[in-house]
Amino acid sequence: MTRLVELEATGPRKLGPDDIDDEKGDVAICQCGLSASFPFCDGSHRQTKDEASETTYVYEDGERREVEQVVTADEECSSH
Ligand code: FES
Repeated sequence: MTRLVELEATGPRKLGPDDIDDEKGDVAICQCGLSASFPFCDGSHRQTKDEASETTYVYEDGERREVEQVVTADEECSSH
């Protein structure tokens, strides 16, 4: 099973002082969905810096592609 999720954040959420573990130090939570260490930010959000605001992208195998149209199973069936 896979899941298509749309995320618009281009950077992490840094936790407040009360959220930080004394042993681990600073913690940033990934909001872009690209981190290999999810839910923790690993800097992968840097790939999103030049995204256009009205464009949807897919990141797969280190490559970014623009999405022209998302078609759901219901839409695909009703068009036939
Ligand atoms: S916010 Fe996702 S990797 Fe940094």
